[in-house]
Amino acid sequence: MNFEDKIYVAGHKGMVGSAICRRLALLGFHNVITKTSSELDLRNQNKTDIFFKNEKPKYVFLAAGKVGGIEANNNYRAEFIYDNLMIQNNIIHSSHLNRVKKLLFLGSSCIYPKHANQPIKESELLTGVLEPTNEPYAIAKIAGIKMCEAYKDQYGNNFISVMPTNLYGPNDNYDSSNSHVLPALIRKFHEAKTENLSEVEIWGSGNPRREFLHVEDLATACIHIMKVYDKKETVNVGTGIDITIKELAIMIKHVSGYKGEIVFNTEKPDGTPRKWLDISKISKLGWSPKISLKDGLEKTYADFVQHKAKYIVS
Ligand SMILES: NC(=O)c1ccc[n+]([C@@H]2O[C@H](COP(=O)([O-])OP(=O)(O)OC[C@H]3O[C@@H](n4cnc5c(N)ncnc54)[C@H](OP(=O)(O)O)[C@@H]3O)[C@@H](O)[C@H]2O)c1
Repeated sequence: MNFEDKIYVAGHKGMVGSAICRRLALLGFHNVITKTSSELDLRNQNKTDIFFKNEKPKYVFLAAGKVGGIEANNNYRAEFIYDNLMIQNNIIHSSHLNRVKKLLFLGSSCIYPKHANQPIKESELLTGVLEPTNEPYAIAKIAGIKMCEAYKDQYGNNFISVMPTNLYGPNDNYDSSNSHVLPALIRKFHEAKTENLSEVEIWGSGNPRREFLHVEDLATACIHIMKVYDKKETVNVGTGIDITIKELAIMIKHVSGYKGEIVFNTEKPDGTPRKWLDISKISKLGWSPKISLKDGLEKTYADFVQHKAKYIVS
């Protein structure tokens, strides 16, 4: 990628897209194009194609999509499959028609089988049943990965994909019914502290293990992969370190300064017991994460407090 190349970041207002934009700007890429969903609804094939015909981007980061935690994935099953399929179909096909030089598609570690072997290698994809709560989302995302592969096979398009673990950082979603575990805990502990609550309730046993990557690290990984990797198989992006939800809760409790108790509601489901990515492939490609979970949580909590009015709309 040259600094003057036209780069389209789809989903630039989201957590991932905004981090990629910040990183590109910092590196000196000065021809980045963006559109909000109200300016361009990427579910609309005709409008998406006109946009690509007019703009002719050379590189595309596909970070637009419908994203949410367990509850949202389960309650809005139709929207999760429809929106994601439409957005990725339109962008990938328009990228092909308009000769985009390279496209990077964002997959997700939660689309690996529910009982995948740990740590999860890229080859585990499609080797078992999916977690039922997010099956529609996972099926859409798997279709996106397979679409990149198929366009590479049939047309020779350089369309690749990455598989990030759970992400956190600026512009995360802190909605009370729609967020992932880490931002949900940040909000819960902060509110418990400000409202002087004696305890914070956490869903499940606290025993499931999860891996968390700061989104600034993901952005450096995406740009690195865009520069150095041309193969068909997807690439995991994570830290290679996982912790229990209980350990995470204790860390966030300390970072927020909350003094009360943590209570686990074991009536609520735990979800997948473990989701731990094998990151040996991306390590061999010369990338490693730089932000520790402790530093990342401190930065993220400070960002949350600073921008609370923007983040909390419900
Ligand atoms: N968050 C995670 O932990 C995580 C983990 C692994 C992988 N990923 C993947 O990373 C990608 C981005 O996730 P994220 O967390 O950054 O999501 P996000 O913060 O919710 O952002 C999603 C972006 O998609 C755009 N978008 C949604 N529907 C659209 C439409 N119909 N037309 C145009 N744009 C639309 C939104 O645009 P507007 O803001 O303009 O509406 C927003 O900028 C997703 O593909 C996700 O699967 C995320």
